[in-house]
Amino acid sequence: MTQTNNNNLNKTVLIGITGGIAAYKICELIRMYKRNNFNVKVIVTKNALNFVTELTLATLSQNEVYCDNFDMKEYKPEHISLCDEGDILVIAPASANTISKIANGICDNLLTSIACAFNKPIVIAPAMNTNMWNNKFVQENIQKLKDNDYKIVEPETGYLACGTEGAGRLCALDKIYDKTVEILNADLPLKGKKIVVTAGGTVEKLDPVRYISNFSSGKMGLALADNAYKMGAEVNLISTFNVKRPYVVTVTQSAKDMEKEVKEEIKSADCLIMTAAVADYRAADYSEQKIKKTAEDKISIELVKNPDILKEVSQNHSKDLKIVGFCAESENLIENAKTKIKNKGCDYLVANDISRKDIGFSSDENEVYILNKDLEIKHVDKTSKDNIAKKILEYVFE
Ligand code: C5P
Repeated sequence: MTQTNNNNLNKTVLIGITGGIAAYKICELIRMYKRNNFNVKVIVTKNALNFVTELTLATLSQNEVYCDNFDMKEYKPEHISLCDEGDILVIAPASANTISKIANGICDNLLTSIACAFNKPIVIAPAMNTNMWNNKFVQENIQKLKDNDYKIVEPETGYLACGTEGAGRLCALDKIYDKTVEILNADLPLKGKKIVVTAGGTVEKLDPVRYISNFSSGKMGLALADNAYKMGAEVNLISTFNVKRPYVVTVTQSAKDMEKEVKEEIKSADCLIMTAAVADYRAADYSEQKIKKTAEDKISIELVKNPDILKEVSQNHSKDLKIVGFCAESENLIENAKTKIKNKGCDYLVANDISRKDIGFSSDENEVYILNKDLEIKHVDKTSKDNIAKKILEYVFE
């Protein structure tokens, strides 16, 4: 099954269920969508309710279940409002009856009315007896739907509920789910791009129990990785903390480990975003044993410079990699940022003012200035890190 992100683009899947024994399987399909945080609205034909109950479908979808619109007490054009809400219509199992009605513009119940009015993608997963599936008119109608860009998830051959073997069994639920995700992701702006994001403060060990680090929360990096993923990118988050995400998360500790991972990952990437607060120095010698307290009032630890990952990769990378650095300044924000982008050689530098208590570091909000190589500056006013992340990605990939 295709992995999808955990806020799943806030998409609504309309699931149409028709009257066939495979209707019971759709309970599990609803759970698959829900597990991946899709909003699900179920529309049933009256016959479908002979196979699966309204209460089951309402409980699983956590929404009202919609049936025929002709026995209502008040006028409410439900088929139109549901069409507006749905991002995709998935009809499973689709009976020969419903398939043939849709292919001929017949709208004699809520589901076929929705199918007629729906101008977004429609996925149809047929399930029926082999003879019905092979029926000339059914096949002509299937072809007509295919020719008009309806997505048919072909039924499988196997044991059927009517006791025979043959074509017509509802395909595996994974196939319906994957087709939905494939269609919904197709027009995402970062589809086909690989983005590597670093996040968190590096951990530079002194001995088995002590280390040098910083207060970076990693929230900005996480917001960038999440938003890049939501926009359809393949994401690798190289982070100093572990976090459960549907994209790849590689946990590293020291600057040197992070450098190694970054260099490996950018070989196949389109963009590197370095939000990590990489320690500039590390202990010259790591002590294998715990450093003992001595009689001295003062001790010194010798530090050596860490690699500047951003500078190093900015000056030695393939041409088609966009590199975004971050800088945290406590004074002369813009002037320092201009000097820094020239010195590092990255394509963009996102500057933020760490002297302000209301933004940055552990805060959920930030206010930033995005510089490009020509030293043009885009100001993003104080807003959530989530919004800042969207603005950065839109600017970099505009
Ligand atoms: O030089 P400064 O630490 O201000 O630069 C910040 C930017 O450089 C950030 O994007 C950070 O991830 C990156 N950096 C790095 N390697 C270092 C220090 C910082 O890649 N050793």
